[in-house]
Amino acid sequence: MLRRKSLYGILVLGIFIVIGSLYFFTDNQPNTSEKNMSVNKEVGSDNNTVGENEDNNSKEVNHENIIKEIINISEEVNADNMYETVTYLAEQPRAAGTEGEKRAVDYIESQFKSLGYETTIQEFPIEYYKEIRKAITINDKPLEGDIRTLFGSNVSGKVKGELVHVGKATVSEVGEEVKGKIALIENSARPYYEKISNVMNKGAIGAIMYNDQPNGSFNGMVKDGNDIPIITISRDQGQKLVDQVEKGTVIASLDVEVEKVTTPSYNVIATMKPDNSNNTGQIVTVGAHHDSVPGGPGANDDASGVSAVLELARIFSQKSIDTELRFITFGAEEKGLIGSTYYVNNLPSEEKSKIIAHFQMDMVGAAAAGGQNPAGGLIMFTPDGRKNLVTDLGAAASKNIFSEAIPYGELGRSDHQPFHDVGIPAALFIHAPLEPDYHQPTDTIDKISKEKLQQVAEIIGSAVLTIASPETPAIAEDKAVPALVEYEYENRAL
Ligand code: BES
Ligand code: ZN
Repeated sequence: MLRRKSLYGILVLGIFIVIGSLYFFTDNQPNTSEKNMSVNKEVGSDNNTVGENEDNNSKEVNHENIIKEIINISEEVNADNMYETVTYLAEQPRAAGTEGEKRAVDYIESQFKSLGYETTIQEFPIEYYKEIRKAITINDKPLEGDIRTLFGSNVSGKVKGELVHVGKATVSEVGEEVKGKIALIENSARPYYEKISNVMNKGAIGAIMYNDQPNGSFNGMVKDGNDIPIITISRDQGQKLVDQVEKGTVIASLDVEVEKVTTPSYNVIATMKPDNSNNTGQIVTVGAHHDSVPGGPGANDDASGVSAVLELARIFSQKSIDTELRFITFGAEEKGLIGSTYYVNNLPSEEKSKIIAHFQMDMVGAAAAGGQNPAGGLIMFTPDGRKNLVTDLGAAASKNIFSEAIPYGELGRSDHQPFHDVGIPAALFIHAPLEPDYHQPTDTIDKISKEKLQQVAEIIGSAVLTIASPETPAIAEDKAVPALVEYEYENRAL
């Protein structure tokens, strides 16, 4: 009797171990493919041996928690609407805190309202340095033409000294010879603030930076602490100065005044709540940033993303859903993800824990971006380079619609970062490699492809509807769904 009982016990234990390992490789590892789907299906089906243990493992076993296929909204996407939005928004720059941003915010809110959404304008303060005065003299003669100050730091001051060419101002290029002098620096892929720190460490009293691109923008950002006078000039002007310095001593003077101002910027939030009768209690957020860099019309960065947010809001305004949707356009992304950080930091904790996915669209319409990659070169970036619910659904949606699962990679640099930082599954959807117009005055409407806009809205819209449709169950509490398709990590060039 005793033996039979213990044999029985061992058998039951064995079954538990087998089931336990099945779960371990399924629900806990949401990101590994169709294999998981079939395992879960088996486990959940009625006529298998596992049924006996369902009580102990009901959450894991419940196949109702698994989304099986993408609900495709492609037919409903209208790229003409999106193109119209980009056209309006890119008529002028929309730098955070400027009239241009306010105009964009008003437009976006009125579009949401006309679709029947409840909207909130969330105001937050941004601090920046406003330019009051800037001048350069070279051997006591004023340097004519386009000269600019950098933003992000107090670059005020009047200095005079010998000009020293320090190339790209990497640590190895900058020596003691800049001490007490003015550094002449060529821009490059390295950030401006790094170069300035390098010359400041060697005692430079000011800097002139010239562009490495013949026709590129020479707006730029430095950081707190980079507080010597800095002026940026074009490549042409810079090369003339390099020639002069090579021929003999050049004395330069810089006169810069900037003033710190605090102005409001805004997030625009449109909310759609499900019926109380059919509510998963979960929230999905879909976002883009409406601000641009100063002086740039930002058609692709990121009026394109805003146009997709508005188009999806239009489509979802006609749908019934069981998951709350929030369509959000963020302000002050270009000044350091300020709007999205403010949004996330000010979420009540019970709301934060209900957000199961954030989809961020940034730079999703440039004809020249994306190279020879599937689905127009769209890629999903997460700040930690790991798959999550958002990338699983994005890949599944693109596979379903375009027969190609888009890859994922590792990158922050947009508003998905603050969501990720508080543990919300989030990803950035973007075309890479980037177009040459990134952050340039040439980021204009004529560079936008309706086809690219269409594809992106189809993919993200389908992914979102797959979560929010009453036909699909709530996402399991551990925020994991098995990947519906295989998709690859890619170290894509930007
Ligand atoms: N749209 C860009 C993000 C981006 C740029 C992603 C290039 C991938 C490649 C975004 O608007 C941006 O420019 N972000 C800033 C960072 C932010 C923290 C100021 C950037 O990348 O410099
Ligand atoms: Zn952007």
